Amino acid sequence: MFRKSFVAVIAATTLALTACGGGSDTGTSGGSGGGDDTITMGFAQVGAESGWRTANTKSIQEAAEAAGVDLKFSDAQQKQENQIKAIRSYIQQQVDVIAFSPVVESGWDTVLKEAKDANIPVILTDRAVDSADTSLYKTFLGSDFIEEGKKAGEWLVEDSASTEGPVNIVELQGTTGAAPAIDRKEGFEAAIAADPDLTIVESQTGDFTRSGGKQVMEAFLKNTPDIDVVYAHNDDMGLGAIEAIEAAGKVPGKDIKIITVDAVKDGMTALADGKINFIVECNPLLGEQLMDLAAKVVAGEEVPARVVTEETTFTPEQAKEVLASREY
Ligand code: AHR
Repeated sequence: MFRKSFVAVIAATTLALTACGGGSDTGTSGGSGGGDDTITMGFAQVGAESGWRTANTKSIQEAAEAAGVDLKFSDAQQKQENQIKAIRSYIQQQVDVIAFSPVVESGWDTVLKEAKDANIPVILTDRAVDSADTSLYKTFLGSDFIEEGKKAGEWLVEDSASTEGPVNIVELQGTTGAAPAIDRKEGFEAAIAADPDLTIVESQTGDFTRSGGKQVMEAFLKNTPDIDVVYAHNDDMGLGAIEAIEAAGKVPGKDIKIITVDAVKDGMTALADGKINFIVECNPLLGEQLMDLAAKVVAGEEVPARVVTEETTFTPEQAKEVLASREY
């Protein structure tokens, strides 16, 4: 196992009788001991709220196995306190590296400082934190959520160019305080500012879940008479909105246009069927890149502070072309 710093050895002795030893190792980061070169990674996942998340978890688990990484995995059920507990437990176990996808942006400084003091490097995957001290983590691997929101808004501006009069948009936001919810809103609003006819008339969180999207959309349909467009921060909420729109006797994709983010299989199927009008891709297959970054970080090599995932967008025609070969 990789060498522990003096601080980490002391921490192991005092904190973790359950740690696996390995006090004679000589690497640069923390380590759970065991006398071989296997990297131990503690991964604190958000939950299983969406098709995207399921694909992301699978990608991380498969990539860890392929890379021979000993993965300790926890599911926080969308609760920050559960993620903090999981990270503290990984610190106690003296894993070599901690990776996590923060449920929300704020409130991480204390636990990240604890990891830093134990000399365990941290990699942010998928979502950012708003810590002013960027030395608390080594790198951030994931999408540019502001850009995703912009792409969604730009499509709508273009699509509405030939329409006369106001366009009423309802927005299904992701989890309150989560980076993708904050950034996708910001990017979308910036893009639609180009056309004064486009207005967000209602905006509420559906917590990135299908049931949340359905419930909030039902309320929107009751309270707001003329909805032209749904902008959902992920496919699952958009799919929930489709159920609510159909139950209200309207035709999704025609009576009410729908824009979503993710491009998971269920979303792409609805897009190909014309029930969704446009999807901005958010790629969940981060596993391989994460394992590469982890190997470098544990070996003490320099890594870029930010690794942005490459993504595209899909119209219904494009969805039909790629649907059969879609991995997730
Ligand atoms: O952080 C990525 C977002 O989280 C995905 O867009 C969404 O589906 C997931 O729950």
